[in-house]
Amino acid sequence: MMDPARYALWNSPSMRSYLENLSPDKLLVEGKGTRVRDAGGRWYLDARSGLWNVSLGYDHPRLTAAIERQLRTLPYTNLQAYGRPAAVALEAAERIVAHMPDGYGKIRFASNGAQAVETAVLLSRYLRRVEGAPERTAVFGLWRQFHGFGATAGALTGLPYLHHQSGALIPDVMHARGPFAPVAADQIEDLPRMITDYGPERVTAVVLEPVVGEGGHVLGADYLRELGDFCRRHDIHIIMDEVTTSMGRVGAFTRTEQVGAAPDIITLGKCLTGGYAALSALVLSDRIYARLEEASQTRPFFTGSTNDGHPLALAAAIAVVDELADGETLAGVRARGARLRELLDELARSRPEITAVRGTGLMHAVEFAQPEGAPWESFRVNALRLAAEARGVLLSNLAMVPAIMVIPPLIVDDGELEEIVTAIDGGLDDLASGRVVADPAKGIW
Ligand SMILES: Cc1ncc(COP(=O)(O)O)c(C=O)c1O
Repeated sequence: MMDPARYALWNSPSMRSYLENLSPDKLLVEGKGTRVRDAGGRWYLDARSGLWNVSLGYDHPRLTAAIERQLRTLPYTNLQAYGRPAAVALEAAERIVAHMPDGYGKIRFASNGAQAVETAVLLSRYLRRVEGAPERTAVFGLWRQFHGFGATAGALTGLPYLHHQSGALIPDVMHARGPFAPVAADQIEDLPRMITDYGPERVTAVVLEPVVGEGGHVLGADYLRELGDFCRRHDIHIIMDEVTTSMGRVGAFTRTEQVGAAPDIITLGKCLTGGYAALSALVLSDRIYARLEEASQTRPFFTGSTNDGHPLALAAAIAVVDELADGETLAGVRARGARLRELLDELARSRPEITAVRGTGLMHAVEFAQPEGAPWESFRVNALRLAAEARGVLLSNLAMVPAIMVIPPLIVDDGELEEIVTAIDGGLDDLASGRVVADPAKGIW
């Protein structure tokens, strides 16, 4: 069998250990339902849904058939130029928009989540220039929130390691304390106060992740409402980054709708195609779209990439929406989410190393600390992930937050939820007994 290290499938902060540990039998070769099989013949329950996107499992007949049909009919058209988009683009747009909150009727497809968030920010700044307020360039995000890699998305992401690893990213991006950060409430880092201090007339947008992927913090409806009122008073655009939370993950098409928030732009990604093809989208409120249409009469807004709105991905998105449309899967996510929470809370009561369980729907974090209170190091959480993997369950761990994310496919059943929690419990036993050793040299992924 081929040696993966030979081709340096590099993609890790700990590249050498990643390659050393990547034996050929670990390569994944097949998927069925919620499970994947490796070349060594072992099946795993995928409690991380690929990369949080394989929402309907690995062999969904409706998804596969939709992509096959599109492949045979028209495998490519471009959305970017020349005014001849594919009919499937309009069909996908209609289907998706029908499940967005009222007043969000316009959609633009892109290729990945980072690009969608980035386009939303650049669109916001573009509007200011055309509307005669070029000094409004500042963008505020929250520490710990993730919006993707790259010069713009990385700058928006509130994880410091991204801000200095390769030098300067886009300017005029700042981060404030979220309602979840362990900082005294009277400190200035609170978002509205920081913007007030900075000068709201110089701020173009705020970017928010309604449920924080890095640690499962849920932004409350009250927080979002108050922030929404504040931003509207100052004409600051709100970009709700729903790349992870949309298309079923929290038991609804959008978290925006679930909490009654009113952003200007919603970004979609990940579960939009169930992971079967690359697609993301920006959904614009009718309000902001009207401004964009007006502005583009004066000066065009150039954006896009060759594979934006790829027909195969759009066919997959239609199948995903159709699958979710009867509400059964979404109701299942709410019920399974509640059960997952019960099981994790129960586990936390029996394991002192678990210091918090957070999340909503099928998106939960389990956080760990040492007996004396110090948070677990990233390599220790990684060792737990690997211990659970050895027990047949794939989980996510994070670069900065000492937590495991449990984020299984939306079609997971109660028995599988128990399997996941049992694997975490067993993995903790493995670490405690020394059967699995947390080795810093093994890195974090
Ligand atoms: C909230 C959020 N926004 C944006 C992104 C970036 O998406 P992509 O990896 O498709 O670029 C992610 C990816 O994890 C995400 O969780």
